[in-house]
Amino acid sequence: MNAIAQGTDMTIEMAARVADFPILGRPVHGRRLVYLDNGATTQKPQAVIDAEARFYSESNANIHRGVHWLSQHSTDLYDQGRERVRQLLNAAQVEEIVFTRGTTEAINLVAASWGRANLNEGDEILLSGMEHHSNIVPWQFVAQQTGAVIKVVPVTDDGELDMGAFSQLLNERTRFVGMCHVSNALGTVNPVEEIVRQAHAVGAVVLLDGAQAVAHQRVDVQALGCDFYVFSGHKLYGPTGIGALYGRRELLDAMPPWQGGGDMIHTVSFERSTYAPTPQKFEAGTPNIAGVVGLKAAIAYVQEVGLEAIAAHEDTLLQYATEQLAGIPGLRFIGQARQRAAIASFVMEGIHPHDLGTILDMEGVAIRAGHHCTMPLMTRFGLPGTARASFALYNTREDVDALVAGLHKARRLFGLEERSA
Ligand code: ALA
Repeated sequence: MNAIAQGTDMTIEMAARVADFPILGRPVHGRRLVYLDNGATTQKPQAVIDAEARFYSESNANIHRGVHWLSQHSTDLYDQGRERVRQLLNAAQVEEIVFTRGTTEAINLVAASWGRANLNEGDEILLSGMEHHSNIVPWQFVAQQTGAVIKVVPVTDDGELDMGAFSQLLNERTRFVGMCHVSNALGTVNPVEEIVRQAHAVGAVVLLDGAQAVAHQRVDVQALGCDFYVFSGHKLYGPTGIGALYGRRELLDAMPPWQGGGDMIHTVSFERSTYAPTPQKFEAGTPNIAGVVGLKAAIAYVQEVGLEAIAAHEDTLLQYATEQLAGIPGLRFIGQARQRAAIASFVMEGIHPHDLGTILDMEGVAIRAGHHCTMPLMTRFGLPGTARASFALYNTREDVDALVAGLHKARRLFGLEERSA
C-alpha cells in the first residue's frame, strides 16, 4: 500500500473516533460543530468524562490523610495516575513526575524553585522567540529577582528556530534554556534533541514545553535528555486544571519547595519545618485528585488509539489542509517550518483574523484568532494576530472542507470574491 492510500485508510479509521467524543455531536449556531481549536484545548472522550464522574460517585476521599478504606483507595488511584504519566513520558522513576495545574504552573514551579535557587546576577536565561507567554513571564519574574538576563533566539521567516543564532548565543553564562517542543502559534516542531545536546555542552539546564507536543507524538524524556518537560492534561483529551512536570530526580531533590502547606512537609514546628521527599514536597494542599483520575483515563485512551496512528492521521490532515488553504486567494501561511505538527496558522488579505473567527463561528467552525499568547512572535512577523486551525485525532477531511468553505464565505461577505467563485 502506498503512503497516500495508507493515509486515507488512517483518516477513515480515525473518523470512527468522532463517536467517542459526545460534544462533537452537538450543533453550534444550527450547524455541525467543526472543532479546530485543539491547540487551545481538546475535547474529551466519554471514557474521560466517565472516569471523573465515577471517581466522584465511587471513590472520592482525600489522599495521603485518611486511615479509612476510601482514602487509601483514592490514594491508590492518584498514585496510578502518576505511574501513567511516567509511562507516557518514559521517565525513569515515578518520583520524577510532579502534578501541577498544567503547563503554566509547572513552568512557574521551575522558575520559582530552581530559578531562584540557581540563578545569579549576569547568568543568562535563553528562550526562543516563539515561546508562549507562560515560558516568558515566569522567567522575567526570576530575572528581576536574581539579576539574571534573558536572551532570545530569533525565529526565521519560515517560522523555524534560527539554530545558527542559538549556537552563537550559547556560552558559559547560559544557565537555563527554555524552549517549546512544538510552537502553539505556528506548529513548528523544534529540533529539541539538538537543542538539549548543545545546551548541555555549555552546562545549561533545559526545560521543554511539551504542551503542544504530547497529544501529537510520542515523547521520551530519557531519549531527549532534557532536564524538565512540562505539559497540560486538557490538551491531551484530559480534564482542565491538571498537568505535570517531569524533572530529573537529582535536580528535583536539590530544589527547594515552592508552595508551603499540608502534604509537602515531613515535620512542622513554629521554629522550622522539614519537607517531604520528591515529588510530594512540590504538591502542597489537596491536589486535583479527580483531575489525575481523568488524566489517567485520557492517557489510556491516547495509548489505545496509538500515538503513531494519531501523528500519521494528523500529518495527512495537515497536508490536505495546507493544499486546500493554499488555493484560497489572499491567504498567507504564517510559519512554514519543514517540521510542523497539527497547526495551520494564516492571515487573509483584507480580513482581520478576529472577523475570520467570527464568520467561521457562524458556520459552526471553531478556530482561534489572535496573538495565541505569543505577542513577541506576532511582533516579529509584524502582525496583530493570525487565524489558527489546530487539529486533533477526531478531525476529518470534511472538517477541513468546512473550514475552506467558511473562508470563501468570509471573502464573499467582504466583497473579495464573487458568489460563483
Ligand atoms: N496555549 C493555548 C493556545 O495556544 C491556550 O491556544
